[in-house]
Amino acid sequence: MDLEKIRKNAKKAIEEASNLEELKKARSDYLGRKGKLKKVFESFKDLTLEEKREIGPKANKLKEELSKMIEDKVDKFSESSSPNIDITKPGERVRGGHLHPLTRLEDEARHIFKSLNFSVVDGPEVESEYYNFDALNIPPGHPARDMWDTFWVNKQENSKKSFLLRTHTSPVQVRYMEEHKPPFQIIVPGRVFRYEATDASHEINFYQLEGLMVGEDVTFTNLKYVIEEFFNKLFSNDIEFRFRPSYFPFTEPSIEVDIKLPDDHPNGGEWLEVMGAGMVNKRVFDAAHYNPDEIQGFAFGAGIDRLAMVKYNIPDTRLFYSSDLRFIKQF
Ligand code: PHE
Repeated sequence: MDLEKIRKNAKKAIEEASNLEELKKARSDYLGRKGKLKKVFESFKDLTLEEKREIGPKANKLKEELSKMIEDKVDKFSESSSPNIDITKPGERVRGGHLHPLTRLEDEARHIFKSLNFSVVDGPEVESEYYNFDALNIPPGHPARDMWDTFWVNKQENSKKSFLLRTHTSPVQVRYMEEHKPPFQIIVPGRVFRYEATDASHEINFYQLEGLMVGEDVTFTNLKYVIEEFFNKLFSNDIEFRFRPSYFPFTEPSIEVDIKLPDDHPNGGEWLEVMGAGMVNKRVFDAAHYNPDEIQGFAFGAGIDRLAMVKYNIPDTRLFYSSDLRFIKQF
């Protein structure tokens, strides 16, 4: 009996089997009770001992080889026609990532201010004492410095060489004016830092959106218009706010703006301060080498976190930075 010939034919039959039926037939033809290999084993009784020793192991090996080939192919067929697939199962949503609520609010604010013809500018988070304070009419020793508890990077005599983490986005006002001529209108969204105790409405770092508009005849009523437009667009005309007289060294007169938290907010009915604003102080124009007799302007600084607290009914500002997925996943 020619083992080589059996191997060749068997392999061909197994390879060519295109379904389970044909494969089973190949198995019984070669390995079955009346199969070709069975016949080889049956013919052993007519062989000499020497012949048996030579052919026996070879026949066994061939049997194993063919069994393995058939098993593998059986697996392949049963995988592709697996009865475990339930094609009636309803579609399932693929959950992707999404934007953080602060990013969402900032994006919306950018969009609204672009529609009001403002351009977007940025500045450094590690800022000099000069731009953060001196140039904004807050010289060393000025009591107003206490309004902004400061993380110092390196405190030096020379305020241009003394660095801190910016306590507000206002330093970008002077940086921008040094490089550009009016008229212009810009916003500066960015991260700011305060060395202070945290509570439900204070964090050691948060986000502000600075605004600055300068021109020959920019007035306080223009400031009111821009703030009203911004709030009405951001909150779809559905929010109550008030202007309060206030004080900032870099604006004169100065105001603060509060929003009344809506009834469905956890702190519904309370007033939340969301921005400081005013007409740019002449001393700030001086620092930027503008002639205060030729131009005027307004500035504002809104708290992005505070606006997001209003818009998304969030009671505690610390939640934004908690990395708590139960919070983040709600947005
Ligand atoms: N920079 C002020 C703050 O952080 C806010 C502000 C900006 C006030 C611009 C007036 C004008 O408190």
